Amino acid sequence: MPRITVTVDGVGYEEEVEPRLLLVHLLRERLGKTGTPVGCDTSNCGACTVMLDGKTVKSCSVLAVQADGCDIVTIEGLGSPGSMHPMQRAFHEEHALQCGYCTPGMVMAAIDLLRDTPDPSEEAIREGLEGNLCRCTGYCNIVRAVRRGAQEMGQAVKSS
Ligand code: FES
Ligand code: FES
Repeated sequence: MPRITVTVDGVGYEEEVEPRLLLVHLLRERLGKTGTPVGCDTSNCGACTVMLDGKTVKSCSVLAVQADGCDIVTIEGLGSPGSMHPMQRAFHEEHALQCGYCTPGMVMAAIDLLRDTPDPSEEAIREGLEGNLCRCTGYCNIVRAVRRGAQEMGQAVKSS
């Protein structure tokens, strides 16, 4: 079996993996990163979104062997309950979730959107998150949360 090395949320791992193993299953079942959920397994919902070398990917559409040598950040690497990332805090404060199943992927996609568009309009947010589905919220609070997260992240950059 192929042996791969990956860094996940700042920790290095070396794993033997079957060539058909999906990245999301490596993260959840082998490395215990259950904060990244599986919503559809068919690359439609975006719930499984993580950062792979700084870019968002749907981890159910990537093989673990393709991540060999890569740096991966999951929702668990962004912050902790006592020290949330500004985007996690914004989702919490704007009540941008109900069941929460889509939230890890939404937060990762929102942060990715802000890299190229630091001050996005509502339309840009809706377009930027179109690969992430939410069955509960109707998206209004998610859009508000991304606006708030963008403002907080912008202020953090200005004051640093
Ligand atoms: S579980 Fe990966 S896109 Fe739905
Ligand atoms: S909060 Fe339930 S799917 Fe988005």
